[in-house]
Amino acid sequence: MLNKSVIGKLWVSIVLLVLVVLILLSFGLSSLLENFYYSQISADLINTGQELIEIIRAEDDPRDLTYELTLLGHFIDAHIIIVDKKGFVQACDAMLGLPTGYFFKSDELSKAFAGEIITKRGHHQHFDVPMLSVAIPEYIDGKVERILMMFKPVAPITNTINSMRWLIVYSAIIAVILATIISFFLSRTLSRPLLQMNEAANEMAKGNFDHKVTVQTNDEVGLLGASLNNLSEQLKNKINELSSEKAKLEKVLEKERAIEQMRRDFITNVSHELRTPLSLIQGYSEAIIDDIAHDKDEQNRYAKIIYKETARLKNMVSELFDISRLQTGNFTLAITMVDVGSLINSIKEKYETVVLNKGLGFETRIEDALPKINADYDRLQQVLINLLENALNHTAEGRIEIAAYVNNKQQICVEIADSGCGIPREDLELVWERFHKADKSRSRNKGGAGLGLAIVKSIIEAHGGNVWVRSQEGEGSVFGFCLPVNDNKAII
Ligand SMILES: Nc1ncnc2c1ncn2[C@@H]1O[C@H](COP(=O)(O)OP(=O)(O)OP(=O)(O)O)[C@@H](O)[C@H]1O
Ligand SMILES: [Mg+2]
Repeated sequence: MLNKSVIGKLWVSIVLLVLVVLILLSFGLSSLLENFYYSQISADLINTGQELIEIIRAEDDPRDLTYELTLLGHFIDAHIIIVDKKGFVQACDAMLGLPTGYFFKSDELSKAFAGEIITKRGHHQHFDVPMLSVAIPEYIDGKVERILMMFKPVAPITNTINSMRWLIVYSAIIAVILATIISFFLSRTLSRPLLQMNEAANEMAKGNFDHKVTVQTNDEVGLLGASLNNLSEQLKNKINELSSEKAKLEKVLEKERAIEQMRRDFITNVSHELRTPLSLIQGYSEAIIDDIAHDKDEQNRYAKIIYKETARLKNMVSELFDISRLQTGNFTLAITMVDVGSLINSIKEKYETVVLNKGLGFETRIEDALPKINADYDRLQQVLINLLENALNHTAEGRIEIAAYVNNKQQICVEIADSGCGIPREDLELVWERFHKADKSRSRNKGGAGLGLAIVKSIIEAHGGNVWVRSQEGEGSVFGFCLPVNDNKAII
């Protein structure tokens, strides 16, 4: 577990680093210290030795020499031996007590006889503790006559170095404890945010982009946290965009499917619509040709039916023609100055009897001083009649009201409200489409082809205006349109 977490690794690294540094330091320091100490002592010994040689230069009585060497050796805490040319002890301090004439075997001697001052450190066969030894040649008339050897125990420095090593061991223990404490605190500032980010990334993978990282440091970890938050924000936006695009696409496809269905319905309906008047016309004209009518009146009645059905056919065909021209943009508007108020009044006059005969109320509310607009009078009349006839066809009782006013965008608006059957919510968007008929069962009797509103929309839009509808099923509908005042640009 310790090994797997970042903090564990950090801890191991710190401890290893501290240990390696301390071990190197301990070796380096002790050898430095040793070298310094030994070179200091050997320099001292050499100095003392050279002075001693001057003192005993003339002396060759072993007893006097022994006395002097003992006294001096005591002072400087060292053993002193004088060895003659052949390697025999001439005198020795009393503490060591080598007898005169004792053959002193030592590697340094031969080198010292060659004239060099030799220092050496380590075990010597005559002593059981490590010694620092110095061999100094004594010159008489330019020749080496005797060697002065001095041995000083080196135990005290070993003690110093040992205590220094202990100090380093204690420091190592303290360093490990400190490393543990530091790791613990680092785990708060380093490991926790990482774990938090890990959690956030897992949440993102599950599709939850609201899980934010709350790291607020200015270092790389904080930067990573901020990037992660940014990433989740961007992903969230992108996914939202994609899903709304998808929803839009689905809506469009659905609309297209509905329109396609309407087209198919239209073909079926139109053929039915056409067949009814055509078979009536065929039947009644046959009757006239075959002279089936009993009298002139009856013949007249047949001819009237033929006339009415022909008119219906003609109306249907001209609607179809209109729509195809309007929707391909292949037509021109005959623009004049139109007074919308008086146009509405003239339509009201024409339709008043029809509406009243149906037992409906008929009202108009026209704002005072409506500005005149540039528009195609006949087309505008066609729009109003289409809307009014729709209202008539779908209203059994109540009233019909036409209102005209100027809105806050300085457009002239006309609304035709009825208290009829209304339009189902799901059909509201589709009523403006060609061939759409909300109530398919009834439409055949009414004779409509579902083209009226598509024509209305095309005409209004050609004038640079727009159309709308509000409706509540069972309560009635309001169809309206707005036209810009004196906006010549929009006119084709
Ligand atoms: N005032 C209204 N109240 C209720 N439904 C309406 C109203 N106006 C239109 N509708 C619905 O919208 C459909 C489309 O109307 P539209 O005028 O385009 O066609 P139509 O009247 O059926 O035939 P036509 O081509 O003869 O006008 C209608 O069939 C009807 O279902
Ligand atoms: Mg209609």
